[in-house]
Amino acid sequence: MTTFKVAIAGFGGVGRATASLLLARRARYRDVYGADVRLVAVCGSRSGAVSAEGLEEANLAALADGLSGPAFIEESGADILIEAGPSDFRTGGPGLAYLQTSLSAGRDTIVISKGALVHSGRELRSLAEGSGAILKLSGAAAAALPTIDLMQHSLKGCEVLEVEGILNATTNYLLDAMTTRGIGFDEALREAQRGGFAEADPRNDTEGWDTACKLLLIANFGLGADLAMDDLAVEGIQSVTTERIETWRGQGLVPKLVGRLWRESGAIRAAVGIRTYLPDNPFANIRGKDKAIRIVTDAMGETLAIGSGKEPLATAGAALKDLEHILVAKAG
Ligand code: HSE
Repeated sequence: MTTFKVAIAGFGGVGRATASLLLARRARYRDVYGADVRLVAVCGSRSGAVSAEGLEEANLAALADGLSGPAFIEESGADILIEAGPSDFRTGGPGLAYLQTSLSAGRDTIVISKGALVHSGRELRSLAEGSGAILKLSGAAAAALPTIDLMQHSLKGCEVLEVEGILNATTNYLLDAMTTRGIGFDEALREAQRGGFAEADPRNDTEGWDTACKLLLIANFGLGADLAMDDLAVEGIQSVTTERIETWRGQGLVPKLVGRLWRESGAIRAAVGIRTYLPDNPFANIRGKDKAIRIVTDAMGETLAIGSGKEPLATAGAALKDLEHILVAKAG
């Protein structure tokens, strides 16, 4: 039995859901991988909990002040870090320092928040390559909707020619509600905020930035591109009016906010914008807060995946799928 010590940095809804799911799956890790997985540390921005023997659910209710930061994770002796802090792609957010420290030290790292990966992806990739740490990011790259895993496992060996994705739950919810229920933009947005899936600043969703972040991660970490946010043309849905929705309806078209990747003159290009689909197109039928990805490859043609997991469990599940890949690599 090999022991794996896991730490979680970032302890909001997703971090907590990830901790609980990990604790609930310990018997599975033992039975399937011969791995004794211990949750040795968790922390939010100011407080945390630590135990070399492994924390239990009861230890997670009350965190102690002062136990936080990259040095706290370092001292916990964790072999694997799961980073689930707030995401800020403009600065890298608090996750950046955790990831720099962890990957420099050779600690296998699972990333849920997009910000640092978008802001400093090249640096973080090179830190991982230099130290030999495994860097996984399913939770950041559309979470319950498999994206990079499809390319790296299910479509392994194929050249990806084109990707099209409905990657943001909020904008899909808004466009769907406006189209099928005839409600206005502001009312639909309030519903998405009540549903808890819109970003704290919903302009990151409605102006296309969240889609752009996920698309950039798929391009850079899934396809080996080196795109920065400035390389993407980004259009949102903030100026979609009920009149425009009515015009599309009259034409029998269904609008979606999609991210697209394609190859041009040997390079990967990326753009986010509104596309309209005929009703029999699978993308026209991605409803509510569901997401979807269509991948076209040279040898295996077209693959379509649709994701509809309930948050925060779905994102926790995506991060712990990454954990199992690490257990396979290390214990298998
Ligand atoms: N606000 C995002 C969405 C969830 O609506 O898809 C986190 O990526």
